[in-house]
Amino acid sequence: MHAFGDIDLFDDATLSDPYPTYARLRELGPVVRLEAHGVWALPRHAGVAAALRDPATYSSERALALTDPVNDRFLAGTVVGTDGAAHARLRRVLSRQLAPRAVKSLALGMHERARALVEGLPGDGVFDAVADLAAPFVAGVVMRLMGLPEQDRVLLLELADATFDTFGPDNARTRAAFPHAEEMFRYLDRVATRDRISADSWLGAIHTAADRGDIDEAQAVPLMLSYTVAGMDTTIHAITSALYLSAHTGQWAAIRDRAVPGEAVLAEALRMEAPIQFFGRRTTREVRVGDTRIPAGDQVLLLYGSAGRDRGKWGPSADTFDVTRNSRDHLALGAGIHQCAGNHLAALEFDAVLTALATRFRNLAPNPDRVPTRRLHNILRGWHTVPLIGE
Ligand code: HEM
Repeated sequence: MHAFGDIDLFDDATLSDPYPTYARLRELGPVVRLEAHGVWALPRHAGVAAALRDPATYSSERALALTDPVNDRFLAGTVVGTDGAAHARLRRVLSRQLAPRAVKSLALGMHERARALVEGLPGDGVFDAVADLAAPFVAGVVMRLMGLPEQDRVLLLELADATFDTFGPDNARTRAAFPHAEEMFRYLDRVATRDRISADSWLGAIHTAADRGDIDEAQAVPLMLSYTVAGMDTTIHAITSALYLSAHTGQWAAIRDRAVPGEAVLAEALRMEAPIQFFGRRTTREVRVGDTRIPAGDQVLLLYGSAGRDRGKWGPSADTFDVTRNSRDHLALGAGIHQCAGNHLAALEFDAVLTALATRFRNLAPNPDRVPTRRLHNILRGWHTVPLIGE
């Protein structure tokens, strides 16, 4: 068995740059015991892919987050934290809204929104890709689709980010975020009521499913939480990481000229910087990975962020952002039964932002007067600020 005792995956230095640690883990073997956190980790692409496709062995129930209170209070009854028939029933509720055809019908409005935001950026082209673009764009889209009041956008962004932060170990970040995640439930309970939410919104569709008996009434708020939380920072970080990487590696011209399709740029950015760095699973039986036996009932982290940098899968240039690479097999959107339900929506949002920027700016470069700052987070990887200049 390979054990990695002393490393805290969640200290500031590791969160700032987890990739050297991931490289050591991948070298140690296909599965590594993280003594500091009392869990196993799968750091290689092949191991993460195999576990994702075997939910009967690697269960999502009471498994995603690193502490029991979070698994029990925030993740029980969510679509991402449930398996089997219960999962299928929950996932079906919004499957029509998230299917490619329905998402395609949102394209016109989405492109208009992105164009308006990009046209509203300052005349000198100096902007922050997070605060001025990705955050208001994505949060605006999510609030409108969910049927939530636009004026609560900033609050919701804060609560959604905190909810994800509680998935970490019992550390200061998790403890500080916990009350905000509780507030997220209270908010949905208070605001997303039948009399305040339009019936044709996504949250309205969840009420309708409860009325029809497709789900229990008690499952409505956890299900609302699944979508409201999952659709925010994930997409903001995907967009801003892609813009950061393209501007800092001089690859904007290829993107602007559509020499590579938007979906290839998104896949490569997700491979390089998985917005969700990991989720947990719990073994339902003893399982053998390489020469290691993982006992039944143990927790295993699927390190999406590490899988994206695995040289065994991506070759010696795994740490290089290259929009011409075929990154389709990345695992940053999961795979198997829990594969991201919002992936078509995220791709459309990404395409709308890219198109709007490409229409306005021939060049997109880092702002030399400002330093980009990381948003350090237990689970998510992204930027707090990405200062850019468009010309
Ligand atoms: C680029 C942006 C996004 C990324 C990187 C991302 C990432 C992921 C990942 C890794 C999973 C798999 C979880 C697992 O295996 O346990 C997932 C599931 C999920 N995502 Fe996304 N996501 C994104 C955007 C969205 C959006 C826009 C929505 C909806 C509005 C959404 C809703 C969901 C839901 C509901 C699930 C749970 C699916 C299930 O368990 O069946 N995601 N996402």
